[in-house]
Amino acid sequence: MTNLLLLLLFFHVSSPMKHSLKFFVTASSGVPNFPEFVALGMLDELVLGYCDSNTKTVEIKTDWMKKLIEDDPQQSEWYTQQCLENSPMFFKNRLDGVKQRFNQSGGSHILQRMSGCEWDDETGEVNGFNQYGYNGEDFLVLDLKTLTWIAPKPQAVITKQRWDAEKARLKYNEKYFTHIFPEFLKKYLALGKSSLLRKDFPSVSLLQKSPSSPVSCHATGFYPRRAEMFWRKDGEELHENVERGEILPNHDGSFQMSVDLNVSSVPAEDWRRYDCVFQLFGVKDDITTRLDKAAIRSNEASTEKLVIIYILVAVAALALVLLAVIGFMCYKKKNAKCPPSPDSRSEASEKLNPDSQ
Ligand SMILES: *[C@@H]1O[C@H](CO)[C@@H](O)[C@H](O)[C@H]1NC(C)=O
Ligand SMILES: *[C@@H]1O[C@H](CO)[C@@H](O)[C@H](O)[C@H]1NC(C)=O
Repeated sequence: MTNLLLLLLFFHVSSPMKHSLKFFVTASSGVPNFPEFVALGMLDELVLGYCDSNTKTVEIKTDWMKKLIEDDPQQSEWYTQQCLENSPMFFKNRLDGVKQRFNQSGGSHILQRMSGCEWDDETGEVNGFNQYGYNGEDFLVLDLKTLTWIAPKPQAVITKQRWDAEKARLKYNEKYFTHIFPEFLKKYLALGKSSLLRKDFPSVSLLQKSPSSPVSCHATGFYPRRAEMFWRKDGEELHENVERGEILPNHDGSFQMSVDLNVSSVPAEDWRRYDCVFQLFGVKDDITTRLDKAAIRSNEASTEKLVIIYILVAVAALALVLLAVIGFMCYKKKNAKCPPSPDSRSEASEKLNPDSQ
């Protein structure tokens, strides 16, 4: 689980001033109740599409994106390929290969890829990225300035050397990360403006595990991610006895967060002086929740609920790691045990698959 939660770090990558298009792919083995392959695309904080090896369908999250995919063969081919065609098998092979490199057979292992680009709409600056992680640590990172791979782990050096030698493929990657993805990004931004600018308020509830635990003010279902939540006493923001949680992704693309208040030294008659305030960026109205014993949801039922929330967060987090595609074990084995690579199938599919061999 620790590794899965590490993946949440990916949420902090982008700056609010820039727009980003990110593709995440996660291949895992030995993680109970979790699909072996999960791919997800995000525009800024908006989930565009999702798929995994259990459902075997591409789940497109917004109407404008559905329409684009119907109308534009390049788009539809890209998503089909990322989700249903070559990627799942290639990723599985890569993960097997990396495990061998580390002499690991049993246990839980996760290979992740994040790729895409950022675009600053004021300066026009574009930054592409393409990086792999293994078990929560960087494994291979493409440096687009020098067009070479960086191998933070000794186990990745062989792959790095081979990939560095493939100049044509590197050039091809460069084109993807500096031209094609930025075009995708701009196209999506134009179409998705209203979904990106939408404001969704959360439902806010007070939760407490046991009478001696802190009271947790929990907001879930908000969008965008930029939000604040805090406790007040007599209308003044409190800093003591308060613990703020991270803002976490929900499976449906919305966000959640909680702020705990340690009530152990608050006398019962003072409770009504406390309230929890939720503020969504760019929206004047707050959601204020009075600290009230009668409103608190506690005991088994809510503990179960928290466990479910925790699992959903872990799933969403895992889903949010590293984009699709191909080739490093296959690359190593030169197709001996691999399915046909995209470029051996057709040129059209190669075009859609920047990191294939
Ligand atoms: C894996 O095992 C081989 C042979 O036993 C050994 O030479 C190699 O150093 C091991 N690699 C790692 C990363 O432990
Ligand atoms: C809450 O505060 C009390 C005393 O102020 C302290 O003893 C206790 O450890 C705190 N509980 C938590 C969960 O921080």
